Amino acid sequence: MKICTIVGARPQFIKASAVSHVIDATDEIEEILVHTGQHYDANMSDVFFEELKLRRPNYNLDIGGGPHGQMTGQQLIRIEEVLIDEQPDVVLVYGDTNSTLAGALAAAKLHVPVAHVEAGLRSFNRRMPEEINRILTDHVSEWLFAPTQFAMDMLENEGLGDRKLHLVGDVMYDVALEIAASRAQRNNPRAVLGLDDAPMVLATIHRQENTDDPARLEEIFGALIELTDRYTVVIPLHPRLKGARKDTIDALSGAARLHFTDPLGFGLLADLVADADLVVTDSGGLQKEAFFHRTKCVTVRDETEWQELVENGWNRLPTSIARPAILEAVELQMAANPAEGFEPYGDGASARKIVGLLTQAI
Ligand code: UD1
Repeated sequence: MKICTIVGARPQFIKASAVSHVIDATDEIEEILVHTGQHYDANMSDVFFEELKLRRPNYNLDIGGGPHGQMTGQQLIRIEEVLIDEQPDVVLVYGDTNSTLAGALAAAKLHVPVAHVEAGLRSFNRRMPEEINRILTDHVSEWLFAPTQFAMDMLENEGLGDRKLHLVGDVMYDVALEIAASRAQRNNPRAVLGLDDAPMVLATIHRQENTDDPARLEEIFGALIELTDRYTVVIPLHPRLKGARKDTIDALSGAARLHFTDPLGFGLLADLVADADLVVTDSGGLQKEAFFHRTKCVTVRDETEWQELVENGWNRLPTSIARPAILEAVELQMAANPAEGFEPYGDGASARKIVGLLTQAI
């Protein structure tokens, strides 16, 4: 069996590494890795290939930046060419980025079965580009690998129950367990970043609905700055945020207890999450990684696809994206005692399940 895997953005390198390692150990499958180039900076891309020992891509399409339609369209054109040359049996896509949709659409039009890892997530907010990408990808996919029961229910509700639909758990959990196991081999994250032992909040903001809306970003930043009264606040800067707020960030750099960093490698970020008193984020992945490392989280968005973490107290959404509401959510979450012993994301063997199911289908 020949599988063509399409990746492009940071979280996809992480998810694909789990599955690719299992494929590498499987004689029956040959994998062709295609990097669309959506994320291209060394610290958004190369570092993950190195750290997670993901093979060099067979194709690097170099298509990053630009508006959504242009990026997705150019990726579609180039992925179609690769698929015609390679004639894979299955195209494997991850998550909800423009690269996911381009890969799924190119394959479906060529009648190549699409396998979607992280199928069935819904935010019910169609203003998010990710919501459009994931709905469309699910509906053109033959294999739907759902991470949670909620995702399974969504797919069934949308009439996709007759597809090859499987609850496999979350591949991010596989990777999180592995990185946690090697923690002792890495330096203390506070020492690496020059932080003292004060209580620490790790914050990341990169969603378009936050970075591209000056009023929302103002409220979020206002809250983060106010938090520096009580906590060290570490903010790894995604290129979108850096682009949106260069002046503000330059002005604030050097402010006491506010630490901006470049995007961090996977191991360092995981260690920092584990060490933080709280994560404040709008990232889908980081909400879960916080839980994997048993750190509480506040998600600065209007909704989340990972509702089970809210229900179990590990995650909290502010009542609105306004400075007082964000600060209130932080205080409530700092004091919260979330439920222990609930494991909604499988058993850390999701990648093996996915590859096993695909192999059985040969
Ligand atoms: C994308 C995904 C989002 C995912 C995120 C992970 C879509 C619609 N969104 O958002 O779901 O959570 O990746 O990080 O696919 N840029 C650089 N260097 C890079 C990467 C990006 O300078 O290495 C710039 C781009 O040129 C662009 C901006 O950052 O101006 C945003 O990048 P883009 O890939 O469009 O979207 P993300 O915000 O990263």
